[in-house]
Amino acid sequence: MQSRWLGRDIISIRDLSRDDIESVLLEAKEIRPNPDALRGKVVASLFFEPSTRTQLSFGSAVERLGGQVIGFSSGDVSSKAKGETLSDTIGVVKGYADAIVIRHPKEGSARLAADVADVPVINAGDGANQHPTQTLLDLYSIEKYIGRLDGLSIGMVGDLRYGRTVHSLATALTRFKKIKLRLISPPILKFPASHLDELRGLVEFHEQEELDLRGLDVVYVTRIQKERFPDIEEYEKVKGAYVLRAKSVEEQLSAKSIILHPLPRVDEIHTEVDSLPQAKYFEQAEGGIPVRMAILKLLLLGESK
Ligand code: NCD
Repeated sequence: MQSRWLGRDIISIRDLSRDDIESVLLEAKEIRPNPDALRGKVVASLFFEPSTRTQLSFGSAVERLGGQVIGFSSGDVSSKAKGETLSDTIGVVKGYADAIVIRHPKEGSARLAADVADVPVINAGDGANQHPTQTLLDLYSIEKYIGRLDGLSIGMVGDLRYGRTVHSLATALTRFKKIKLRLISPPILKFPASHLDELRGLVEFHEQEELDLRGLDVVYVTRIQKERFPDIEEYEKVKGAYVLRAKSVEEQLSAKSIILHPLPRVDEIHTEVDSLPQAKYFEQAEGGIPVRMAILKLLLLGESK
């Protein structure tokens, strides 16, 4: 049987069908550390932008499967600082590694890397565009705590303009049935119109400014993406736009609902929320390990082993 996964790239969540998403989540549920699985395999981790969770959980996932990681965590320490182009960097690194994980501030950079590399490329975030493996771990958490991916009411809160995690997640939700999306943001940080077009007819969505959590199964809070604002004054106008407090969670959200956040958090969820039963953002980050182990195993070994 020809593998559906072996050697594939994961650049945009658009590349994954519902069936693909479900098979990653199933693999993630079943996967266990195995020092032999990726023995002898090298994964290059090229981070041209800051990262804690994505970079460390990819690294940990490789190690737990017995593989090795090479790479860097800032463009300043790579030859980019000497003027090397991304194509040249990838053209060389593809000879050093069996897979490449890349994060880069420019939209489209992961796609470019995949065009150059003949090994699987995984997009760990390209500008404000996409962050598909974050979406897979978001869906993993939603399924784990809510028990389903169809028929959900989801509120996305904060920076819907520059937040790549919400762009990827909204696209993924078009693969599921009877999704209601409440898009909560300041007017200048609304979901991009082109993305809304993609949702039309597939999910029911509603845009609003008011932070109203009633009826939501999932509240997905995001950080205002300061580094993506072309004008820092615009950022100053919207920073601190939303701060989720325990009082509104207790008054508006059912005990079975969950609050997610891709992290890092700045001030958009008050720390008093952390101890409430709905707060699942730290557990969500832990899901990065099984989900990224599953992805690496599928791309490097296929589905059979
Ligand atoms: C997010 C990202 O990098 O897009 N972080 C992450 O990968 N967990 C969210 C953010 O930086 O706000």
